[in-house]
Amino acid sequence: MAINPETFRAAMARFPGAVTIITTRHGPERRGITATAVCSVSAEPPSLLACVNRKTGTCSAISESGIFNINLLPNPAGPLAMRFAGADGATGEDKFDEGHWIDDERGLPLLDGALIGFSCEVTEAMEAGSHTVFIGRIVDIRLGDGAPLVYGQSRFHRLDPM
Ligand SMILES: Cc1cc2nc3c(=O)[nH]c(=O)nc-3n(C[C@H](O)[C@H](O)[C@H](O)COP(=O)(O)O)c2cc1C
Repeated sequence: MAINPETFRAAMARFPGAVTIITTRHGPERRGITATAVCSVSAEPPSLLACVNRKTGTCSAISESGIFNINLLPNPAGPLAMRFAGADGATGEDKFDEGHWIDDERGLPLLDGALIGFSCEVTEAMEAGSHTVFIGRIVDIRLGDGAPLVYGQSRFHRLDPM
């Protein structure tokens, strides 16, 4: 059975995901995109993966720098997520005009107030269709508090305990 892109998108819209902003640096400029395609890979060594569209400046910047951060967004950060998805037309460094961003010791942006900040080094990069799958070895973790922002059915949700 051939699956067309619309069917795939309709299926993935029902697949909820925790919302992150993946950040890196391209020379003097910061780069970042909103992403839900982030997933645990292994505890030994600690690693995760992130799928990044090759059309984005963030993808080429990660390929060049070999390093990236994953910021897990807290529940009130829907507008920030939309900004980093390009919804208001901001691109590149301009996206960072919103949110309180600090540089880690590598110079990569970390969101003050993120539930988790993962600092990663690329160990593998695979092209898969329109995206590059980056495997990142986690070299630092910063833990915050609060509830995560979740995206599904084309909108944001909060997680409520059962
Ligand atoms: C909720 C949500 C999740 C997204 N997840 C991903 C993702 O996992 N990988 C990806 O490459 N793009 C993802 N995107 C799209 C990118 O955020 C978007 O293409 C990018 O920010 C465009 O930035 P630019 O205009 O600076 O190129 C997602 C967008 C939204 C709204």
